[in-house]
Amino acid sequence: MKLALKIQLALVAAIIVIMAGAAYVHVLLDFRDYQADMVQDHEFLGTALRDTVTSVWAADGEQRASSLMDSVSRMQPRIRVRLVDPSGADVGDHAAVATDAARQAVASGKIVHVRAAGSLCTYVPVTKLGDVHRAVEIAEPLSYEQERIRASILHNSAISIAMIVATSLVTGVLGFFLIGRPMRELERKARRVGAGDLSGPIGSRRTDEIGHFAKEMDAMCERLDEARKEVAAETAARIDALEQLRHADRMRTVGQLASGLAHELGTPLNVILGRAGLIEDPDATREETVENARIIVEQTRRMTGLVRQLLDFARRKGPDPRDVDVRDIVRPTAQMLSHLAGKARVTIRLDEPAEALTVSADPAQMQQVVTNLAVNGIQAMTRGGTLQISVGKRDAVPPPGHTGRPGMYAYVEVADEGMGIAPENVPHVFDPFFTTKEVGEGTGLGLSVAYGIVRDHGGWIELMSELGKGSRFVLYLPMAPSAPQPAGDCA
Ligand SMILES: Nc1ncnc2c1ncn2[C@@H]1O[C@H](COP(=O)(O)OP(=O)(O)OP(=O)(O)O)[C@@H](O)[C@H]1O
Ligand SMILES: [Mg+2]
Repeated sequence: MKLALKIQLALVAAIIVIMAGAAYVHVLLDFRDYQADMVQDHEFLGTALRDTVTSVWAADGEQRASSLMDSVSRMQPRIRVRLVDPSGADVGDHAAVATDAARQAVASGKIVHVRAAGSLCTYVPVTKLGDVHRAVEIAEPLSYEQERIRASILHNSAISIAMIVATSLVTGVLGFFLIGRPMRELERKARRVGAGDLSGPIGSRRTDEIGHFAKEMDAMCERLDEARKEVAAETAARIDALEQLRHADRMRTVGQLASGLAHELGTPLNVILGRAGLIEDPDATREETVENARIIVEQTRRMTGLVRQLLDFARRKGPDPRDVDVRDIVRPTAQMLSHLAGKARVTIRLDEPAEALTVSADPAQMQQVVTNLAVNGIQAMTRGGTLQISVGKRDAVPPPGHTGRPGMYAYVEVADEGMGIAPENVPHVFDPFFTTKEVGEGTGLGLSVAYGIVRDHGGWIELMSELGKGSRFVLYLPMAPSAPQPAGDCA
C-alpha cells in the first residue's frame, strides 16, 4: 500500500474516532440541557398556573379554574395542562396522578416530575386551606426531545463527513506532490543505478527529508561514477602491464628460438650458395639452370617461412579472440620448436585428431602458451627424449574456484620424460618469478603467463609430475559454441 494512502487512511480513522467522541459528548450535553430547560419551564409555568388557579377557584369555583386550564392547553399545542386529583383515582373530570411515587410526593406538597406514557409530566400541588386538593399537571411529549437528538446526530454526522472528505482531499493532493511523486522519481533513479546507469541526477531542490535523501543519492552516484572511472583506469593499466609481461615472455622465447633458427637457416643458405654457383657455370645446360633456379626459389621460400613464423610469434598484437582450430595452433608451434628440440636431442611427437577442434581463442596467445609448456619440457629433458604433444577433447570438470561447468573441453597435453617437479615445488610453479633454473636461464614467468592467458580464455591448466620420470601439463579450453561436438574422445 502506498505511503500517502496509509497516512490518508490513518488521518481519516483518527478524525472518525475524534468526531464520533465529540458528537457523543455534544449530543449528551445537549440532551441534558434540553431536559433541564423543560423541567425549568414546567416548574415556572406550573407555579404561575397554580397561583392563578388558586385565585380563580377561590373567586369563581373549581369549574372556572378547570376551563382556564383548557384555555392554556389550547394556546400551547406542544403541552397539555389540566387539574388532576392527587388522591389516587380519577375523580369526576380529573385524571389520577401518573405514578404512586408521584402521588405521594404531591400529597406531601412537593413539585414532582415523572416520565410516563412518552411524556414528561410535572405536578404542582394546589392547596386550599392548607390541604392538597388538586395538582396542576403539565405534560409535554418526549418526541420533541428525540427529534432534537436526531437533529443533533445528523448535524454532527454532516460535519464529520465534511471533515473526512476535506481531509482525504488535502492529504491525497499533498501526499501526491510531497511524497508520491518524489518517491517515484527516487525509485526510477534507484532502478537506473541498479542497471548501472549513474547519469541523470535527480537535482531535487526540496529541503525536507526526501530532498536530503535525493541529494545524498546524487552524491553517491557521483562518487560511484568516480570510483568506476578509477577502476576502469586501473584495469586498463593492469591489462597493459599484463600485456607487456606477456610480450616480454614472448621475446625471451624468441631469443631461445633464434639460435635454432640461425642454425636452420644455414642449411638452405648453403644450398642456395651452391646452386647459384652452378648457375654461374657457363657449361651448365638450360635444364640444369632451370632446376637450380627452382631449388633456389624453394629454399628461399623455406627461409622466408621460417623467419615469418618467428616474426609472427614475436609481433606484439592486442588480444584477438576468434574461432580457431586447436590443431592450427599446435602444429606450427611444434614445427617452430623442432630446431630447439633437435639441439637438445629431443623429438617432438604430435598426436592430433582427424577432424577440426574449434575453440574461441587468440591464436598468438595460445601459441605462446603451448610454446612455454613445450620449452619447459624440452629444457627438463637434459639427456634428450620424446616430447609428446596430444590434442583432443574430453569430458572434464573445472577445478574448484573456476566458474566453468563440467562438460566437453578441448585439451592440449604436453608430456615430457624429463626430471619431473619436486612435490614441494608443484604448488609454486605457476607463481610469477618462481624458477629453479640458474640465474640468466629462466625468469620464472613462463608458466604464470601461460596460466593467465588460459584463465582469460575460460580454461585451466592441470599438472601431473613424477620426480625423475617426467611431467604432464594439460591445458583445457571451452569449445566454441558453434563448433560441432560429436560424442566421445577423439584424442
Ligand atoms: N616440464 C617441466 N619439468 C620440470 N620442471 C618444470 C617443468 N615445467 C616447469 N617446471 C618448473 O617450474 C618452474 C617455473 O617454470 P616457468 O616456465 O614458469 O619458469 P622458467 O621455465 O623457470 O623460466 P622461463 O619460462 O621464464 O624461462 C621451472 O623453473 C621448473 O622448476
Ligand atoms: Mg619456462
